[in-house]
Amino acid sequence: MSAHTPQNPGSKPHDVNDDGMHSPSDAAEARGTPDRPESDYEAGDAPALHLRRIRSFVTRAGRVSTGQRRALDELSPHFVLPFAAAPLDWTATFGRAAPRVLEIGFGMGATTAEIAARRPDDDFLGIEVHEPGVGALLKLIGEQELHNIRIIQHDAVEVVEQMLPEGSLDGVHIYFPDPWHKARHHKRRLIQPPFVATLAARLKPGGYLHLATDWENYAEQMLEVLSAELTLQNTATGYAPRPDYRPITKFERRGLRLGHGVWDILFKRI
Ligand SMILES: C[S@@+](CC[C@H](N)C(=O)[O-])C[C@H]1O[C@@H](n2cnc3c(N)ncnc32)[C@H](O)[C@@H]1O
Repeated sequence: MSAHTPQNPGSKPHDVNDDGMHSPSDAAEARGTPDRPESDYEAGDAPALHLRRIRSFVTRAGRVSTGQRRALDELSPHFVLPFAAAPLDWTATFGRAAPRVLEIGFGMGATTAEIAARRPDDDFLGIEVHEPGVGALLKLIGEQELHNIRIIQHDAVEVVEQMLPEGSLDGVHIYFPDPWHKARHHKRRLIQPPFVATLAARLKPGGYLHLATDWENYAEQMLEVLSAELTLQNTATGYAPRPDYRPITKFERRGLRLGHGVWDILFKRI
């Protein structure tokens, strides 16, 4: 199945990467951070009245640095869009009609900013729930004077379902999504058949879905789920070579030095 064999398949993943992002499962438990309830319902809710979906993230109180706070205060009005249960008008938002790329879970935004700088003719919508990450990307947008990024701080599943019409996207990036290492947490993984079907429907014909992970078991799941989605076609045989536009992150470089694997998965909408 795989064209890319990991050099060290048994390697333990990072819980905290160089960009300050935490992997929420084991690290959270080790720190005693309260995790989400195991059931599909929020504690205290009456199940019949208030069904909530299982989320792919935990809300964590991260420290916002002074620079991030300044960027949040000064740049949010220009670059952060409110969540709304209505289709996003990309042309009005960006002031032009250009190829449209969605990124889910941009973390601290270093990759987002680098790709946007390398691809000035494309427009990027980044979704992230973590406030310090939003501040960090705004800071990069300000420092690098990037005009082709907008941000929504909200659950990406709801943004995709409610703000992005079918056939509207040229590309989707999901890089190093939370791996949720433990089997009992796998249901929290973002890459599941129903969400992939929803994402695929948002792509234009020929549009691409690009995933990357450093967790082998999740890479296998990604490949299996995308291969089973009939409206998608693999651009490679198994795993894909890293496309030039995706930079190698600091923590990825460190992982590669330690012999860990990284897998890119690149499918196109038929
Ligand atoms: C492991 S980090 C990876 C960050 C970044 N892509 C990178 O490569 O460093 C995963 C990120 O996805 C975000 N995330 C997870 N589920 C999300 C969702 N449903 N909506 C928005 N952001 C989400 C988390 O807050 C976290 O910042």
